[in-house]
Amino acid sequence: MGSIFYISDTLPPASIDEMKAFFANIFHNNNSLIVEIGSGNGHFLVERALKYPDNNYIGTDLLTGRAKKFYSKIEKRGLKNIVVFKGDARRFVWEFLYENTVEEFIILFPDPWPKQRHRKHRLLTAAFINMLKIRLVPGGMVTLATDYHEYRNRILDEFRKDRGFTNIYRNGYSSSPHSCPKTLFQEKYTEEGRDIYYMRFRKERDLR
Ligand SMILES: C[S@@+](CC[C@H](N)C(=O)[O-])C[C@H]1O[C@@H](n2cnc3c(N)ncnc32)[C@H](O)[C@@H]1O
Repeated sequence: MGSIFYISDTLPPASIDEMKAFFANIFHNNNSLIVEIGSGNGHFLVERALKYPDNNYIGTDLLTGRAKKFYSKIEKRGLKNIVVFKGDARRFVWEFLYENTVEEFIILFPDPWPKQRHRKHRLLTAAFINMLKIRLVPGGMVTLATDYHEYRNRILDEFRKDRGFTNIYRNGYSSSPHSCPKTLFQEKYTEEGRDIYYMRFRKERDLR
């Protein structure tokens, strides 16, 4: 089936048409693309792919061990609508995707890098949020969760400043959304009694 790709060893598509052909070749259709960043062992995305066979799912993770566990879940279930890209998702978003091509980005429990001197490693910077916006289709979504309340505030601030998104939660976030994404880290944090903050941002439909 061949559904694990190594970002550093794969030649990225050189144009939007090549990108469409690249993914059509992988999935054998042109269905909507949903990209998860930092999928870990793939618990959440594999469930989603099973539940919604008419979408195409792309999972990413930096760590080889996690990407392999993720891939073995896909193989075991014989799923055709999900693949794993192992490597830095920032590079994946930048090099493999083009403007207005992604329906949703999902980022569940990104590493919070709580120490001040490590915060430069955080994924959700203004530049990365802008890049997600460019890749999303008009009306496309970014779905996020974190248990780290300072990071939550930072994320809310950055999306507010970007101006290209509408926050779908009137109070900024939800602690118990209609359907909570289940992940390994979500289970761990819930067992530890930590609060979890879910956020969703919709890309404006008529951005110039
Ligand atoms: C705290 S874990 C959460 C995993 C999963 N989303 C969950 O909720 O169970 C964060 C994951 O993001 C991955 N990660 C961190 N930075 C990344 C990057 N730049 N590109 C891809 N994955 C990344 C880590 O390897 C790790 O598996």
